[in-house]
Amino acid sequence: MQHWHSADPAMSSLDAIREGYARFDPHAYLQNNYVPPRADFSSEECVVPWKLRCLAETFASGEICGRTLIDVGSGPTIYQLLSACDHFEEIVATDFLEVNREELRRWVRGEPGAFDWSPFIQHVCKIEGRG
Ligand SMILES: C[S@@+](CC[C@H](N)C(=O)[O-])C[C@H]1O[C@@H](n2cnc3c(N)ncnc32)[C@H](O)[C@@H]1O
Repeated sequence: MQHWHSADPAMSSLDAIREGYARFDPHAYLQNNYVPPRADFSSEECVVPWKLRCLAETFASGEICGRTLIDVGSGPTIYQLLSACDHFEEIVATDFLEVNREELRRWVRGEPGAFDWSPFIQHVCKIEGRG
């Protein structure tokens, strides 16, 4: 399973972080975390629908809004930005790793092999009461 940090006890925590970043595979991360069972939209108990619900409620409060939202450390994901769209004129996704930025560019360009975020977009539309 792809994690952000190594579990090898012989490594210093800095080494472990460095190694985790060097070997990070966005595709494996997305497959591990953003497809069922973790992204099971039929259950509100599931972690991904729960995160989307929290984000939808937070942005619906109207307390977080502005011109530019900078998401520092987006990783290879955009689900965290969906409920923010109506509350900011511009959203900037950023990440330390080129592999993650490239994964996001693939989605923006609609290239083959890009991760399919449409179930997430549909779910957010549903919980926000949109068609
Ligand atoms: C927890 S992950 C992102 C997770 C993803 N948004 C999600 O919800 O699954 C944190 C990200 O922050 C990035 N990161 C760490 N330090 C950073 C920095 N100083 N500037 C930008 N990105 C950074 C890492 O490359 C990593 O992709």
